[in-house]
Amino acid sequence: MENKVSAPVDNNVFKKVVSHAKEYGFVFPSSEIYDGLQAVYDYGQNGVELKNNIKQAWYKAMTQLHDNIVGLDAAIFMHPLTWKASGHIDNFSDPMIDNKDSQKRYRADVLIEERAAEMEGKGLVEEAKVLVQKLARLLEAEDLKGVQELIINEKIVCPVSKTANWTEVRQFNLMFSTQVGSVAEDASTIYLRPETAQGIFVNFLNVQKTGRMKIPFGIAQIGKAFRNEIVARQFTFRMREFEQMEMQFFVRPGEEMKWYNSWKEARMKWHQAIGIPASKLKFHDHEKLAHYANAAVDIEFEFPFGFKEIEGIHSRTDFDLKSHQELSKKKQQYFDPEINQNYIPFVVETSVGADRSFLAVLCNAFTEETTGEGEDAKTRTYLKLHPALAPVKLAILPLMKKDGLAEKAREIYESLKFDFNVTYEEKDAIGKRYTRNDLIGTPFCVAVDHQTLEDNTVTIRHRDTMEQERVPIAALREKIGEAVSLKRILEKLM
Ligand code: GAP
Repeated sequence: MENKVSAPVDNNVFKKVVSHAKEYGFVFPSSEIYDGLQAVYDYGQNGVELKNNIKQAWYKAMTQLHDNIVGLDAAIFMHPLTWKASGHIDNFSDPMIDNKDSQKRYRADVLIEERAAEMEGKGLVEEAKVLVQKLARLLEAEDLKGVQELIINEKIVCPVSKTANWTEVRQFNLMFSTQVGSVAEDASTIYLRPETAQGIFVNFLNVQKTGRMKIPFGIAQIGKAFRNEIVARQFTFRMREFEQMEMQFFVRPGEEMKWYNSWKEARMKWHQAIGIPASKLKFHDHEKLAHYANAAVDIEFEFPFGFKEIEGIHSRTDFDLKSHQELSKKKQQYFDPEINQNYIPFVVETSVGADRSFLAVLCNAFTEETTGEGEDAKTRTYLKLHPALAPVKLAILPLMKKDGLAEKAREIYESLKFDFNVTYEEKDAIGKRYTRNDLIGTPFCVAVDHQTLEDNTVTIRHRDTMEQERVPIAALREKIGEAVSLKRILEKLM
């Protein structure tokens, strides 16, 4: 659930991050040669490395550091009744409104939230709060007529037609559907999962029994989810196809708040461990709880466009397992030997968007440093990524191609490529090659010069400080390996 009033937008910085992402191979618009597909993106050669490293940092933090949490990789397609049980068929919708003149469709709640943000920007903080509260009350009461009236009373106009010629507000289900089966008559409607969580719920007993898991225990999963988002903006923040990293923690009924609080803290710590400063993170308690939750909080990151949700932590009660038990007629109970009782466990869920975490990491890493003044001013742009997350860990750069330097540099490259992601570059002046690596966030560059041929030492250039140090080639594996290991992140979590 998004927060209601956004901070002032810094479009400039965000635009720079978005164009940086495209120019340096992090994120491309999907099928760009056909002018792209709205709210769908592809990860380029550097983006996929960064995203995989974030996913690894999450997966290892969840499974490797907890002997009571195991992984799962459930299918995207699930039996359609799954979504009946989960409530998504009946409840997973957004209130939509169309402008009759422009034929454009909007999320009614977002139109009002944007008006509130505008008010706040003009210093009308109290008025903005009142408006947001009014909206929350109307949504809570499912009063769609009231939401339409609020839009009309606030004189909100369509940004395209500039008119207030609105349709009524209707609920629009966000799930994508498709047909399964080879013959049209036999085909049945199935859905692309809108959250990965249900794959975990329906496998709860499979994992519990085969893994002989004892409550409390968790199941963690990374996978694609799909939502037909109408408001698709802010780059990869809101996509129609995205990835979630979710963990369901099964607990004894009555103990859920203890675990909810402990996961809240643990997850906040993880975001900080991957390099996001505490000052750019905050909790935001939900004003309106989802149909399945008895407590819920978001972790928000301060994007250039304001504090926005990157992760949700939800106490989901026994809602999901109970519904699956009812609809499937298969018992979803656990026998707790410690208290000699059968019960349906309660669930605390942590759910973070891999793409949102990626975007937060990228925005946080984007650094412009200006030195000198006036005509002498020079700006250096680089990505200050945690070394364990950086797409390339080490670039091997011969000072020049001749005199055997290229061969020596290649030799070093060949000896290190089994340990971490290392690149070799010989084209252009070394300064230009340093800059290229700064722009993709490579934490270390190694220069191979004439002295290397004499004494088997190289210089390591550090991305953030640009300091250089001379080290023996034989020390590179350990020195770089230590600095770029995911261990550097994981050990901060203990
Ligand atoms: N299983 C609970 C669940 O799905 P959610 O708050 O709807 O909860 C969890 O989603 C996380 O998934 C969000 O915090 C966000 O990071 C990510 N997410 C949700 N919708 C998204 C979208 N359209 N694009 C990118 N990430 C999204």
